[in-house]
Amino acid sequence: MNRKRALCIFAAAAAIAAAGLNAENNMLTLSEYVFESPKVSDSLDGFKIVHLSDLHGKRFGRGNSRLVGLVNAQRPDIILITGDLVDGRHPDPQAAYELVSQLTLIADVYYVTGNHEENLPTLTYNHLLSELSARGVHLLDGRAERFEVGSSEVNIIGMFDKKDFYASQVSELLRPNGFNILLNHRPQFAPDYAAAGIDLSFCGHAHGGQFRIPFVGGLIAPDQLFFPTYSEGIHRFGDRATVISRGLGNSLIPVRINNPPEVVSVTLRKEFR
Ligand SMILES: [Fe+2]
Repeated sequence: MNRKRALCIFAAAAAIAAAGLNAENNMLTLSEYVFESPKVSDSLDGFKIVHLSDLHGKRFGRGNSRLVGLVNAQRPDIILITGDLVDGRHPDPQAAYELVSQLTLIADVYYVTGNHEENLPTLTYNHLLSELSARGVHLLDGRAERFEVGSSEVNIIGMFDKKDFYASQVSELLRPNGFNILLNHRPQFAPDYAAAGIDLSFCGHAHGGQFRIPFVGGLIAPDQLFFPTYSEGIHRFGDRATVISRGLGNSLIPVRINNPPEVVSVTLRKEFR
């Protein structure tokens, strides 16, 4: 094989690989979980939660139409967003505004910030939050919102992003007889959320470990570094659990491998014992 022909074959292989990666990074996958717990009452049985995280200003179709369509198709009772709607290095909020404006027509949307929002300049940060609020998003900045489903109470606690988590931050917001949900960007504290009394917590941040290696898992994640324990999926801690989204967009590492963007749906089911 001459040198020119070898170069042509290499260039073609590189172009095919790039096209494949681009397709993978722009497809949407749905991960569906069932969470069974004795804390799920008759009236909460079948309650459906859609969880999005780490959009990083990305669009899936014009106006994020593909993403909105996939969420809408789940017929969620509530929608949870666990931070990094915008990317700190390119903080254009339009994709986030387009998305939440449509999501709030589907169901109530509850939101906490990620590290990327928290690192924005103060004016940009305040403007983002006021625009999200104006679009009907529930901002959970160290507080809880509660509602009734039949005879059951759902208590949604949210923490805007901080580097650490302390159980005392949620203890006074807990409702012992209610179903307690926590939104917190960082997944590495998953066992602490359960130990704090949270029935079901939701996180993002890890981007699935960015590159997913078959039979091994994610390669690298912020805070957890190589081979992170908490990069995706549902992690059970007795009767409690933490759900970790692989997220939708990218940040410092601009590409995902074997790790397509993810929409998560969780259905609550009563556990009979
Ligand atoms: Fe992120």
